[in-house]
Amino acid sequence: MARSRSEGDWWRTAVIYQVYPRSFADSNGDGIGDLPGITARLDALVELGIDAVWLSPFFTSPQRDGGYDVADYTDVDPLFGTLADFDVLRDRAHALGLKVIIDLVPNHSSSAHPWFQAALAAAPGSAERGHYLFRDGRGEHGELPPNNWQSVFGGSAWTRVDEADGKPGPAERGDRARPAEAAGTAGAAAPQKAQWYLHLFDSSQPDFDWTNDEVKELFRGVLRFWLERGVDGFRVDVAHGLVKKPGLPDYTPPADGGSAGGAEPDVPYWAQPGVHEIYRDWHRVLAEFGPDRILIGEAWVEPLSKLAEWVRPDEMQQTFNFAYLETPWEAAALKKVVDDSLAAFGGVGAPSTWVLSNHDMIRHTTRLGLATPPPQGEGIGPRSEAHPDDAVGLRRARAATAFMLALPGSAYLYQGEELGLPEVIDLPDGARQDPTFLRTGGESYGRDGSRVPLPWEAAKPSAGFGPPRSDGSGASWLPQPEAWASYARDVQFGVPGSTLEFYREALAARRLHRLASNELVWLPPVDAQPDDPQTLVFRSGAITVIANTGPNTVELPAGRVVLASGPLGTGTLPGDTTAWIEA
Ligand code: NOJ
Ligand code: CA
Repeated sequence: MARSRSEGDWWRTAVIYQVYPRSFADSNGDGIGDLPGITARLDALVELGIDAVWLSPFFTSPQRDGGYDVADYTDVDPLFGTLADFDVLRDRAHALGLKVIIDLVPNHSSSAHPWFQAALAAAPGSAERGHYLFRDGRGEHGELPPNNWQSVFGGSAWTRVDEADGKPGPAERGDRARPAEAAGTAGAAAPQKAQWYLHLFDSSQPDFDWTNDEVKELFRGVLRFWLERGVDGFRVDVAHGLVKKPGLPDYTPPADGGSAGGAEPDVPYWAQPGVHEIYRDWHRVLAEFGPDRILIGEAWVEPLSKLAEWVRPDEMQQTFNFAYLETPWEAAALKKVVDDSLAAFGGVGAPSTWVLSNHDMIRHTTRLGLATPPPQGEGIGPRSEAHPDDAVGLRRARAATAFMLALPGSAYLYQGEELGLPEVIDLPDGARQDPTFLRTGGESYGRDGSRVPLPWEAAKPSAGFGPPRSDGSGASWLPQPEAWASYARDVQFGVPGSTLEFYREALAARRLHRLASNELVWLPPVDAQPDDPQTLVFRSGAITVIANTGPNTVELPAGRVVLASGPLGTGTLPGDTTAWIEA
């Protein structure tokens, strides 16, 4: 039976499930997930017990970065279906009581976007070029990039435009960006210096110039288009990157991978103060459609007190808590990040969010089984030094999930974590599609390992991801490992102790006991030797939550066990296990 749609501040306590459309469910046998595939599986998400789905991009796109390279913001890529398919999905989701959040990618478009194509065809200094960040190169003929910024995906953040014939430079045609010294000149006869355009990500993802009023108007229109179409919110991609520091000064990130993060106090392309004016503007656009629509920021900004600026009352409603995601499975570190999160977000009247996995991260089942996880984006593959302990990883992942789902606020799940899926490490190099892998010449494996299509039905081809492929070639766009069928939804559903049943029980108990809206009150650790506590204990209404992050078994407080992330002893809680007790 359909649950009624919650009203008011539904998002303050919501469990939001991320669907990565190309890997969720394929309806037509082309090996790529699509919108009808998602619609057909929404019942399974209701049975899981979530409140909302967030769909990663399904818009018209050349798919150079899994759809985060948008060529038309108000249409569906034929790969995924049609606008009519989206309407069916939205209606079915709403009828089932699920909210629908879509991805908005405002920092950059695809190079196939008509505005960028027009910019390439137009002259330097033209209105068309003004939509993006074209600049003259340095050096006598402009043969050097305008500054030293590096792409998050590797290589220079600039690609040269060949003005002599009006065609884009080599990187635009799909090669790696050329090193500056080999870039050549615009030609002796060229009347002006060569121009370059900025792309903080792939060369197929040119950055918009957010000081341009037409860019601002374009996105107001995109927001209204989808709001009128009934979406409940937007997850805003790279929400810390839209505004660049005037003059685009050189910046050298610290050696430990800072270019992808936002930790430094003044990075000229991250967390510039001007971004907040954009979100205040969007807040007003959403308010035209009532109080229930939301903006969620994907902002890699530290510390949490600064990130909280994104969710001030007149800006976004939520922002991802990557500090939480990146915290190791250690009691003291977890307690600190929870306290810091509640203080920072609570200080501006926003709920904290919690997340352990997404399509950009090594799945937490694998990550928590690594002694030292690699930096975000680097990924893991056959040549990596790090080797996960799968059993430890799954045990910790379930314990970490049980801890997360008991915290006050809103939680994000990533498709497949409810099946206990690990990161796929041994994808063949030739199958990998992440631009990170391609732009670093394979040095970074990138994120494909978290994006392998889901197993639904063990006995079927492609483990039920879709019907057999119509062209008779491989099964799915990224190959599923042989073991994938053993994780299929149908072999876990209704099976006590399975990871899927554990998630279903956790989500039902979270709802029943209102854990997301209760106040969290820490209780003393229950370690036998309390000098270096390994346990985290807190009270939430009638429930006591105990997470044991260490290896030693500890005593369980008396009471009824509402949830356990793994087998319990008699009156005891083994290592790497979390329990919820009703006393
Ligand atoms: C963040 C998205 O989650 C990621 O997948 C994408 O590659 C970058 N932003 C660029 O859009
Ligand atoms: Ca398909």
